[in-house]
Amino acid sequence: MRSLLTLRYVCLCWTAFVVNTVTHVNADTGKALYDASDRGDLDEVKRLTEGKCEDVDKPHGAYNWTPLNIAARENHTQVVKLLLSCKPDVELQSTVGWTALHDAAYYGSLDMINSLIDYGADVNIQDARGRTALHLAVIGNRKEIVRTLLKHGADTRITSKAVETAGDSAEKGGFKDISNLIENYSLIQLIKNETEDTISRLRHSIFVVVISFTLVILTLVSSMIGVSLYFRYKLGSMQHSLDRHAVVFQNEENRQSVHIYEN
Ligand SMILES: *[C@@H]1O[C@H](CO)[C@@H](O)[C@H](O)[C@H]1NC(C)=O
Ligand SMILES: *[C@@H]1O[C@H](CO)[C@@H](O)[C@H](O)[C@H]1NC(C)=O
Ligand SMILES: *[C@@H]1O[C@H](CO)[C@@H](O)[C@H](O)[C@H]1NC(C)=O
Repeated sequence: MRSLLTLRYVCLCWTAFVVNTVTHVNADTGKALYDASDRGDLDEVKRLTEGKCEDVDKPHGAYNWTPLNIAARENHTQVVKLLLSCKPDVELQSTVGWTALHDAAYYGSLDMINSLIDYGADVNIQDARGRTALHLAVIGNRKEIVRTLLKHGADTRITSKAVETAGDSAEKGGFKDISNLIENYSLIQLIKNETEDTISRLRHSIFVVVISFTLVILTLVSSMIGVSLYFRYKLGSMQHSLDRHAVVFQNEENRQSVHIYEN
């Protein structure tokens, strides 16, 4: 009896230990991946993501940064690339609304920006203050990153909550080169837009013309068919009455000839 109780006790302890360890390890791995990404410890990130990526989107730290956010902030380009192979959600935003691309635009390398864009990061997401990655690259005076973002569709018309476009921010910061660059791209965007607009309007007009033309042709053909059917009917009935007259005439003639004969 005593030994049975002891055995039960041991079993309970063992279960508690196992459960504890597993939950503990789980809580730790999320943080471990975050910490390794923060440090830029490529080997550790590789080890922690080998065959399992469940911690890649877990937020940590003061502003709910994901491992990707923190690696971008700390300019660990290789770690960012490795984390991307884990298929993270790059649209996740920290407490202040920064995506990994925001962090990269302000703190990271051009190589990192290209990797994020190639992965499919949306370049026009706005943070809690309405700023896009383009705004942040401008504020950081990072011309090559500004150029890359523009090349990949960054919208120069988006205004922050301070009602500033990225171009306004550049002028305010006194970044003449960046300001010119944005102006050129705005112009290109405008021309592209108008060209697209003209083409779509033209396409629309052509469509309308083709439809109208088809309708006209259909109307013409159907009225011609109608007219010809009408005349055919008219001719038919004329023919009919002519035939009838001919029969009457013939009868009359016959009667007269009989008459003549009788006389
Ligand atoms: C980030 O790292 C790259 C080299 O990988 C360096 O050229 C760049 O200046 C760094 N960015 C910042 C903001 O320190
Ligand atoms: C903007 O365009 C002008 C004229 O096309 C060109 O001379 C200038 O170098 C461009 N500026 C930038 C910053 O690309
Ligand atoms: C481009 O066209 C869209 C509608 O097609 C319009 O809302 C937008 O203002 C245009 N962009 C520019 C730069 O004019």
